[in-house]
Amino acid sequence: MSTFLNQDRRSIGDLIANRKPGYSLEQAFYTDPEIYKLEVEKIINRNWILAGHTSQWPQPGDFRVLNVAQESAIVVRSEGGELRGFANVCRHRGSLVCLQSAGHADKFTCPYHGWMYDIDGNLIAARNMADDFDKSSHGLKKVSVGIIHGLVFVCFSDDPPSIDGAIRDLEEAMGMYDFTNLKVAAQKSYPIPANWKLAIENYQECYHCATAHPEYALMHTLMLDREKRERVSGHMYERMEACGIKDIFIDHIDTEARPGEIGFGFGRTAMFSKYKTGSKGGEPVAPLLGNITGYDSGQADLSFGPFSFVLAYNDHVVCYVFTPIDQNNSSCEIYWLVRGDAEEGRDYDVEALTWLWDVTTKADKEIVSNNSRGVHSKYYEPGPFSGMERMEQRYTEWILQELQRP
Ligand code: FES
Ligand SMILES: [Fe+2]
Repeated sequence: MSTFLNQDRRSIGDLIANRKPGYSLEQAFYTDPEIYKLEVEKIINRNWILAGHTSQWPQPGDFRVLNVAQESAIVVRSEGGELRGFANVCRHRGSLVCLQSAGHADKFTCPYHGWMYDIDGNLIAARNMADDFDKSSHGLKKVSVGIIHGLVFVCFSDDPPSIDGAIRDLEEAMGMYDFTNLKVAAQKSYPIPANWKLAIENYQECYHCATAHPEYALMHTLMLDREKRERVSGHMYERMEACGIKDIFIDHIDTEARPGEIGFGFGRTAMFSKYKTGSKGGEPVAPLLGNITGYDSGQADLSFGPFSFVLAYNDHVVCYVFTPIDQNNSSCEIYWLVRGDAEEGRDYDVEALTWLWDVTTKADKEIVSNNSRGVHSKYYEPGPFSGMERMEQRYTEWILQELQRP
């Protein structure tokens, strides 16, 4: 905490100690390379980030690469059938081994000098090495992989937060949607020229929804403040039970309460009564999920750690993952999931399924980029949060707390 920042000679500890509660973060948290370095160490490399759904790795040898800040992981289904993670870093002289983002392989060959690894990460071939060279001690290094009811997470730490509590406590809530047996119908990446925190802070608040998202604001009551929202949510509470939906609320987002565990949450919010789901016009875009038998005009929000957020409509699920790339760039990865047995063309149309969150994310990318431009200005100073930015405020407090952890 004694690191001094270039521009104003204040240490990170000072910046945190002198922070005005209820205000946005100081400029240095978005612009200073020292703080970014600390975030990589204390937050980015210590927490789980969503890498997909188990259905994306049907066969042994199926792999997907996840890039987060400086790190790159290969997640591959092993010969034995389980998902494993490896650092995408060659044990010869460190080249990236796998340059494809996803595919099927029976081995991985480093493009630099041709060292070969099998899908269990073992080094199987290396030319012209000394006679006493030991291949068995030069396998790919391991990266942690965890699965929460079908959602696959990666953590670049050998001692990742436990996910056991999340698996146990979310069993009923995620079971309603049969998360384990969903499948990915579409996936898209949205590069965002902004610090990762700006992108996630924006996702955490709906103060901007009325101005930035006319499509979303038409159907989601989250753009209202809490009192107004309660007043227009009656129809959902009346219909939930008949639709086979339980009113479950879980808030284990604060990791303070359960140290060493992933933070997670689950809650339900009403949509306006004429909307059944998040689609143009509000009509269903895919078959009902899991045990759900109808439409209550409600939608569930889940969160898993600091980077991964999930919206569950009654007929489809949207996973939102924010990936830090460097200090000034991040990426938003979106997965749209439907029932595992749904067929494209017959049961869903990708265009209709992805419309809402594609148009909304493009608008978010624009507002977050503008936010980033202004935050870099010498005229920027932290401004006060509104009553509709409580989750964002809580998130920024959590960031500061994590930065000070040993
Ligand atoms: S760096 Fe991979 S084979 Fe040389
Ligand atoms: Fe938004």
